[in-house]
Amino acid sequence: MRKFLTGVVVTLVAFAVGALLVVNLGWYPIGADNPPSSLERAMANRAVDAYVGRHAPTGDNPIQPTVANLTAGAQDYQQHCALCHGGNAQHPSPMRDHFNPPVPAIAAHIPDDPDANLFWVTKHGIRMTGMPAWGGILSDNQIWTIIAFIKHANQLPPEVQTAWHDAATSATAPLVAPLASAPSAADQKKLTPEQRELRQAEEEVRQHGPQPKPHTPPKRK
Ligand code: HEC
Repeated sequence: MRKFLTGVVVTLVAFAVGALLVVNLGWYPIGADNPPSSLERAMANRAVDAYVGRHAPTGDNPIQPTVANLTAGAQDYQQHCALCHGGNAQHPSPMRDHFNPPVPAIAAHIPDDPDANLFWVTKHGIRMTGMPAWGGILSDNQIWTIIAFIKHANQLPPEVQTAWHDAATSATAPLVAPLASAPSAADQKKLTPEQRELRQAEEEVRQHGPQPKPHTPPKRK
């Protein structure tokens, strides 16, 4: 028994020393052009899902998807979010896979998480990913309004589509234009499966136009 316990302690110490060496000797790749390992990614995803599930407010989005609200959401989305998250499927963000983890194209591939979870992520951000905490910059009301817009981004009334387009093409709008060329083979190799899938989907859109994605609107009582 004593031998076993000594073995356990020695192993733990060896792990701790190993981890310290990797960190202190500069062996841990921190560049954003190094995709995280699948273990790191899976653990981070689980941590985010579990934490958001535990802390997100309960209840529905208090903002109704009226033309006025969706228009306000489109304008705020375009101003604050589109640079990273991109426009519609034809206008992916030029930065989308230059982040690790890659930035999800939330207006083109609408997340099916409850509005309240998306609200929490937007307000508090996600540490060490590039997703900022918007609390203190945007009011709760503005955040709910942006989320309402995102959830309806594939079924916008024509007036809202026009307003979104105008916001995206105004002189002060951040550049969110399709990339001019497909990624090189060397570039492709460095991508995670998720990034590769994103690029493939976007290449499809570039060649064949947008493919509407089935989306069930959030239920409202
Ligand atoms: C500087 C870049 C950047 C900006 C600006 C930005 N985000 Fe993000 N966002 C990210 C990244 C990177 C992630 C991915 C985090 C991850 O994978 O864990 C993300 C993730 C998210 C998610 C989670 C998506 C999902 O499928 O779970 C939501 C929701 C979100 N952002 C909303 C917004 C909103 C709303 C805005 C504007 C108010 C915004 N973001 C602005 C970088 C950004």
